[in-house]
Amino acid sequence: MTDANTARFNAEALSWDSNPDVQQATALAHKAYLAHLPDAPTLSTFSVLELGCGTGLLSLALAPSVRSLTAIDAAPGMIAALESKLANNPAAPQNVHPIAVLLESPDDPVLNGQRFDLAVSHLVLHHIPDLPAVFRTLHGCLVPGGKVMVTDFENFGPEARRFHPESKMDGVERHGIERGEIRRVLEEAGFKDVKVETAFEMEKRVETEPGNGVLEGRMVFPFLICEGTKA
Ligand SMILES: C[S@@+](CC[C@H](N)C(=O)[O-])C[C@H]1O[C@@H](n2cnc3c(N)ncnc32)[C@H](O)[C@@H]1O
Repeated sequence: MTDANTARFNAEALSWDSNPDVQQATALAHKAYLAHLPDAPTLSTFSVLELGCGTGLLSLALAPSVRSLTAIDAAPGMIAALESKLANNPAAPQNVHPIAVLLESPDDPVLNGQRFDLAVSHLVLHHIPDLPAVFRTLHGCLVPGGKVMVTDFENFGPEARRFHPESKMDGVERHGIERGEIRRVLEEAGFKDVKVETAFEMEKRVETEPGNGVLEGRMVFPFLICEGTKA
């Protein structure tokens, strides 16, 4: 991630949760994660790392199902928004640990050497310049037998570009993830039993004409869920 990209997410942090498309994508992703993860008793023992947690929409949804959740984001503004939700809501889960960091190594001191049972990430991969590097990092953050499970919209062709308004293309490294590429990247990072499937489809607002800023069009975007296990 570039500094400009982090600055953009800092600026967007306060209004992030008011975007209905973001809320809907999180709700659908949460459902998909629960459908793909082990049963509740096993899941409740998991320590989880979330990369690119934003304001913690998915973190707060998943936290009641797991033992602990370390929520990481490179944008301090996003982490401040999550910290404020945790501090101001007495009903917020107590097992969420937010950290502002651009995670580039499993040996980053912020993790204190902790290794996790599960790594998740939602709507982040399209912002990551170096996908092989991020999956090597996530692989290194897991215990043996640990799982990675990530969701993002699919690059299904040129129309996938319309996921973002033209004014928000800074920091968009790819217009969604590609099935073949993501499978190869997970396998090359060392993951076994790699599966890449359609998780859900979501209708969202798009510009009626690219670049006109009028978000009154609608388009359906497929999302992929990609999983693997560390040997
Ligand atoms: C599109 S937002 C998604 C936020 C959240 N997952 C959601 O769906 O609401 C992408 C987030 O990923 C973060 N990010 C991107 N690369 C990162 C990295 N290597 N480490 C930590 N955070 C990262 C950005 O700061 C940004 O907040």
